Amino acid sequence: MPKILVLYYSRTGNTEKMAKALVEGAQRVPGVEVQLSIDFEVTSEDLAAADAILVGTPTYNHEAARSTQKVFEDAAVKGVNLKGKVGASFGSYGWSGEAPRLILEIMTNRFEMDVVPQPLLIKYGPDDAGLTKCRDLGHQIAKKISQPIS
Ligand SMILES: Cc1cc2nc3c(=O)[nH]c(=O)nc-3n(C[C@H](O)[C@H](O)[C@H](O)COP(=O)(O)O)c2cc1C
Repeated sequence: MPKILVLYYSRTGNTEKMAKALVEGAQRVPGVEVQLSIDFEVTSEDLAAADAILVGTPTYNHEAARSTQKVFEDAAVKGVNLKGKVGASFGSYGWSGEAPRLILEIMTNRFEMDVVPQPLLIKYGPDDAGLTKCRDLGHQIAKKISQPIS
């Protein structure tokens, strides 16, 4: 069964709300397994087993969460091959919001993943429209991996 891994870090809960909405959207597609994990619980083996990897990090002090970056550093050290897996990033921010872009750069340049080109950014807590965007992204990615190109 195709599998989506949604991993995230969140200090005050805003990115967590986004992550949960992404999962809801993805679960609307039957036959796709969706795993939601806090980033420090995720292993390189979890990444390798996923068909799509969605990474959420807020921006603090212009940086992505250290634990989120470490997931990819560990995968690089272990030589995990993520080439061609679907990738997307998201996160809550206050004013600059560069963290999800940094994660997309890693996915694209180091791991050659097939990424959704723009990160999903939401200022502070997601409102209903923001949560809908998250559900839509989860749904879009679940559909993509459930319909492999023949
Ligand atoms: C100490 C501190 C530093 C922050 N630095 C940034 C920053 O550099 N850029 C930015 O866009 N937002 C910044 N923010 C705002 C957070 O990204 C924002 O509050 C976000 O909603 C936190 O997400 P979370 O609830 O998932 O932890 C900062 C917030 C705090 C408290």
